[in-house]
Amino acid sequence: MSAIIPPSGPSGARPLSGRTKPIVYFIGLTAALAGLLFGLDVGVISGANEFIQKDFGVDDRTIENIVSSLLWGAVFGVLISGFFSLRLGRRGTILISALVFAAGSICCALAPSPGALIAARFFLGIAVGMASFVAPLYLSEIAPQSVRGALISMYQLMITIGIVLAFLSDTFFATYADLKPLATTISESVSAMAGGRGQMVMEAYFAVPWRWMLGVIAVPALLMFGGMLFLPESPRWLVLKNRVPQAREILHRLAGSPAEAERELAGIEDSLKIEQKGFSLFRDNRHFRRAVFLGVGLQVIQQFTGINVIMYYAPRILHEAGFNTTAEQMWGTVLIGTINVLATFIAIAFVDRLGRKPMMYAGFTVMGFGMLSLGALFHLGIGGGNISMSYLAVASLVVFIIGFAMSAGPIIWILCAEIFPLAGRDFGITCSTVTNWAANALVGMTFLTMLNVLGPGNTFLLYGALNAAFFVFFLALVPETKGVSLESIEQKLLAGAPLREIGRGRTALTPRS
Ligand code: BGC
Repeated sequence: MSAIIPPSGPSGARPLSGRTKPIVYFIGLTAALAGLLFGLDVGVISGANEFIQKDFGVDDRTIENIVSSLLWGAVFGVLISGFFSLRLGRRGTILISALVFAAGSICCALAPSPGALIAARFFLGIAVGMASFVAPLYLSEIAPQSVRGALISMYQLMITIGIVLAFLSDTFFATYADLKPLATTISESVSAMAGGRGQMVMEAYFAVPWRWMLGVIAVPALLMFGGMLFLPESPRWLVLKNRVPQAREILHRLAGSPAEAERELAGIEDSLKIEQKGFSLFRDNRHFRRAVFLGVGLQVIQQFTGINVIMYYAPRILHEAGFNTTAEQMWGTVLIGTINVLATFIAIAFVDRLGRKPMMYAGFTVMGFGMLSLGALFHLGIGGGNISMSYLAVASLVVFIIGFAMSAGPIIWILCAEIFPLAGRDFGITCSTVTNWAANALVGMTFLTMLNVLGPGNTFLLYGALNAAFFVFFLALVPETKGVSLESIEQKLLAGAPLREIGRGRTALTPRS
């Protein structure tokens, strides 16, 4: 998932009146396609792994590198997206990332060797990282105040929908699609261009499902590119670049009334008076440093819950749990992806009512239970033909996913968007988002080795124990930010209140820098 950058500046908390125009929803939908693409790219690899492994005859280590190369690309993509989005604008950066998405997907599909596939996935990852940073930024800057929250939640939901769509499309190519005629058509036409050479070789090349799985993602990428061409630039970026008349014109097009547009413009101008100090604030202010470390810690925790072990390797886990056919493994994976979408609604419904921490405590308990029971099942001897044990393993996976989707999935992103003072928000969110991708890569590049060295039982017990430890981290260090203004969080943080109390804590201190 990605950075959610909340409305900032003095006008941040003021809801606006007026009717939301349909164009705003069109904008939301198109930009949220970036979330969908992001989810598609995260999800697609789980079904492709087995076919890539067979086709190239590579070992588990190489598969781990193929999985994680995209994630390292995303780390790089986030790091450069600040530069691009400032120079070229939010819209221009999303357009570039859509092109890289499309080109990267096609390069992956055509990769002639494992090394080429790793390089192509790194390239594609740059687009994923850029989109994960810029699309929510664009959404939060362009949506009128009254629908901002809804549009940003939609973006998060699109990621989980993207993941499940990728699982479904993988299932289609793995088990139902007849790839032979397609492969013949392509190879005939390419070979005709090459004077009739190499048709047989090409037919075999294009008849493997994984190339289609990875290549088909170019289609939604091109759709997003087309949609983005019609969308306006972010008014906040235009004001930043001193292009106020253009910003005003766009705001008038989007807002429910002229007065609302003028209030938005004044809000943007106010918030831009607060200079982004980024690294100098990090160097000079130990209270800000605490918030950055908290953001980094939260993202490490999100990834080390073990979520992406399941997202990237579910078919393999199901295989270890005794499901031997590809169809069983693929449909099991689709089930997990669907539960991931549905359980996200639990978080959306309750996070502002019950608060972030109770939801996280419940989530860690459920996730810990899911992982520990999966580990225990493997120790008891799963996969030896006892089908009820295999079903219990699926149930444990489902329990884990519910725990994640109702808590850490969305809430870690929400917290990371809330804890940084305005003058260091860009810097803080960049640090935490980069950490998310880097920790994600570490999990992706170690799981199969863990399975081979520790065995599945111990691997899942270890992840279960980590979830229990994270519960304690939350008790000791994480603030409850429900219903607290960003200004109040900032004031308490900079005044030196303990991290746990910068939200709804009892401490009332006088600010000092
Ligand atoms: C995480 C991703 C994960 C996704 C699963 C997001 O919040 O950041 O790493 O793949 O949830 O739904």
